[in-house]
Amino acid sequence: MGKNIIVLGTQWGDEGKGKIIDLLSNRVNYIVRYQGGHNAGHTLVVNGKKIVLHLIPSGILRKNITGILGNGVVISPYVFLNEVNMLEKKGYFIKNRIKISNSSFLLLKYHELMDIFREEQLKKKSDNDFYIGTTCRGIGPAYEDKIARRGIRISDLNHMDLLISKLHRNLDFYNFLFRKYYKKPIIEFDSVMKEILDTRNELLKMATDISTILIDANKKNKNVIFEGAQGTFLDIDHGTYPYVTSSNSTSGGASTGSGIGPRSFDYILGVTKCYLTRVGSGPFLTEQLNEIDSHFFKFGKELGSSTGRRRRTGWLDLPLLRKSIQVNSISSLCLTKLDVLDGLKNIKICVSYRSLKNNKKFHEVPDHYKDWEDLEPIYEILPGWNDRTKGIKLFSLLPKNAQNYIRIIEELVKIPIDIISTGPDRLDTIFLRSFLNKLI
Ligand code: GDP
Ligand code: IMO
Ligand code: MG
Repeated sequence: MGKNIIVLGTQWGDEGKGKIIDLLSNRVNYIVRYQGGHNAGHTLVVNGKKIVLHLIPSGILRKNITGILGNGVVISPYVFLNEVNMLEKKGYFIKNRIKISNSSFLLLKYHELMDIFREEQLKKKSDNDFYIGTTCRGIGPAYEDKIARRGIRISDLNHMDLLISKLHRNLDFYNFLFRKYYKKPIIEFDSVMKEILDTRNELLKMATDISTILIDANKKNKNVIFEGAQGTFLDIDHGTYPYVTSSNSTSGGASTGSGIGPRSFDYILGVTKCYLTRVGSGPFLTEQLNEIDSHFFKFGKELGSSTGRRRRTGWLDLPLLRKSIQVNSISSLCLTKLDVLDGLKNIKICVSYRSLKNNKKFHEVPDHYKDWEDLEPIYEILPGWNDRTKGIKLFSLLPKNAQNYIRIIEELVKIPIDIISTGPDRLDTIFLRSFLNKLI
């Protein structure tokens, strides 16, 4: 039987998932996106050339890969097909290697406008408890429609009469809000219909029953990677609600978002940045608003891959990482961006929290974000290193203090570290152990 591996982010996204999935994709035949939409920005660097993918699974650059968008993904037709065409223009012929689920949902112009108008209004009111700082791509509204059972699925493209009446009803609802509540112009039926008609044939050519394809692939000994978008703490259920995205980015989403049962998964690799970043609002206990942030920003190039916003930065937070290991059943970790720590005199790791009210120590992450306000991080301080680690491919060649840093994290979270990334390029990688090597 082929193996099924989930690769996901253990933090607030942008951990370097794209690079790692691209790297591992020479050992598998399928890569499946199971949730999210074009809010994701996954960066690959191959032979010095950078490509950012939003909807198309990382790994597609290799000819052996079939890229799949599962039912859990929300698909903007124009964005998706533009991305396909962008890759074709660069010489990656992928049109016949992309499949989408009959049951995935369309993200249309009115979703994007709704996201923009809502965020604009919340920002104006500068009400910190409600402004999320979304990517304004329409992700939330598209999932709201799905849950409200008025969403338009890919398979609706085969039933145009039904689709047209659904669209009329949805536009009545959205246009009422746009006009009355947000005091904005309405969106015309014809302009939304144009996007659907422009893209319908191409989408239907790629549409299929993904669940059966994946089960058959396993039977034929083909391995599959399930590519998480966003990260654990942006998950709608397990993240820092309400400062989250609108899908399940944790490992459970791989099952519901692709149509294969939970017993099908063999390995879950958690991708963890050596420090922390988040984009948008929400709690962040180890956030640094000082020269450490300038260091991470400068050497980690912490600008959003999708929206270009500056990412907030801070120290690694182990209570968060432990919770992530727990909710995802993570088998092992891949640590990324080790090279960004080069040159720091000291490196801090948050090992627990202290209550500002009663000085009590906590090892767990509070469920409600308001309860984070009463906590401060307790750090273990480790010595840094001056030598460059960028591009190092062997653990033994890392500076002693870097080796020590990695071993300490491994001891504190009690699961192995399989892979260390020392630069953005595919080749800047250390394989530490052979768990994954034995599996795929
Ligand atoms: P993703 O959303 O998890 O795929 O991550 P992004 O692509 O949004 O952000 C990660 C950024 O870090 C990208 O610019 C990558 O090229 C870069 N990157 C990935 N791994 C490393 C690494 O080990 N070192 C450095 N310096 N950059 C890395
Ligand atoms: P990748 O896959 C980092 C954040 C947004 C916002 C919140 C909700 O590249 O790691 P949304 O538009 O999803 O409704 O926004 O989630 N966010 C991400 N942050 N990386 C991402 O994706 C993200 N996708 C969404 O900044 O705080
Ligand atoms: Mg990203």
